[in-house]
Amino acid sequence: MSNNSTKNEKMESIVSLAKRRGFIFQGSDVYGGLSGTWDYGPLGSALKRNIMNLWWKMFVEDRDDMYGVDAAILMNQKVWQASGHVATFADPLVEDLKTNQRFRADHLIKDAGFSADGLTFEAIDNLIKEKGIKSPSGNDLSPVRSFNMMFRTNVGPVEDESSISYLRPETAQGIFTNFKNVVDTFYPDLPFGIGQQGKAFRNEISPRDFIFRSREFEQMEIEYFVHPEKWEESFEMWRQLVWKWCEAIGLPSSSVHELEVPAEDRAHYSKRTIDFEFDFPIGREELLGLAYRTDFDLGNIQRVSGKSMEYSVKGTNEKLVPHVIEPSFGVERAVMAVLSTAYTEDEVNGEKRVYLKLPAHLAPVKYAVSPLLKNKPELVEKAKTVYLMLKKQVGAVMWDDNGNIGKRYRRQDEIGTPYCIVIDFETLEDDTVTIRDRDTTNQTRVKISDILPPARA
Ligand code: GLY
Repeated sequence: MSNNSTKNEKMESIVSLAKRRGFIFQGSDVYGGLSGTWDYGPLGSALKRNIMNLWWKMFVEDRDDMYGVDAAILMNQKVWQASGHVATFADPLVEDLKTNQRFRADHLIKDAGFSADGLTFEAIDNLIKEKGIKSPSGNDLSPVRSFNMMFRTNVGPVEDESSISYLRPETAQGIFTNFKNVVDTFYPDLPFGIGQQGKAFRNEISPRDFIFRSREFEQMEIEYFVHPEKWEESFEMWRQLVWKWCEAIGLPSSSVHELEVPAEDRAHYSKRTIDFEFDFPIGREELLGLAYRTDFDLGNIQRVSGKSMEYSVKGTNEKLVPHVIEPSFGVERAVMAVLSTAYTEDEVNGEKRVYLKLPAHLAPVKYAVSPLLKNKPELVEKAKTVYLMLKKQVGAVMWDDNGNIGKRYRRQDEIGTPYCIVIDFETLEDDTVTIRDRDTTNQTRVKISDILPPARA
């Protein structure tokens, strides 16, 4: 079996577990789905929230140089004109001349074993002709044309040029447009940053690879404002913090790789970019990015709005438009990296077992509580007491009395619950319970009063 098909088997197993156990479903599934959209079920939304809360705590709450915002998704169209997104936020589109199906040209080139990195749309067109690249159905392709990825809409009842707006393709602009508001209300010292989490939308030509490339997704972004002469030290600081983040969500450092992005492949606003790539089951792909955006955005806002974006450096007469370091994290990519790191198959008592080795602080359920037998009222009553006590202390605790104990353990293993607590007849005598560890499957007996909440990150 080829390495690739093994990897795709792992991906398929994760997708199937995610659906079977209530993590992630196809968006609008009941109506046949809507391509490029995914819905998070009870466990998926808890996992995602745990990742986002950890990020917010690490990068906003715990830092004195960071401020949080939550800007509107719909913004004045001038935002996207000034940012360059209206003019340049586009992918190369080709059409199958027989079936009229549309594809991303650079993906077809990659699938054919070549690279379109750094090529202009014209050069991509030439490469398709030169290499004889066809559509997946084997048909000829149309010339490449530029396809803007922003979802366009109209705000209000009149559909004309002046009411055009876009679903934001990045959360970053909601930060830049609030730069002055934060400076004028909090007077932060330079360097300082503003963080935001929220939905972003891109009309991907061909969404693919589960939640890796979807049309609606969630970002966690930081714009870190610096003195132009000191951008390199902040860039380095954030490089180190990104590694800390990867560690905090349990990614093995051997699976994370820095890619220094060459000038021709960088986004239009960046003077330096490091892509942090991860060894996903689908291959090595971008997990998050770290970019030096210079004064590109604040400069554009100043030019288009006519309002000064200058910052007065405290204790000096110096006024300047700060430069920006941007660590940009995709939530779904973090979820996918965490799930693929956690997905483990082993053998217990001669039987195949599938479990999610999630870090306890990210696991959607921290404890499952069960009575050994569900038809013994005295066990059920005691188990309910333990369940309610833990629920109060920890929150994410599940009651599970379905099927026999072995089945419960397997089910909890599959959703990544680190500990299963069972109340048995001994509990009624000495107030001890068994705690089973997900990873080792070992059981220990502890006093109810000694059950500790799982450690935080
Ligand atoms: N703000 C950078 C990005 O969305 O890729």
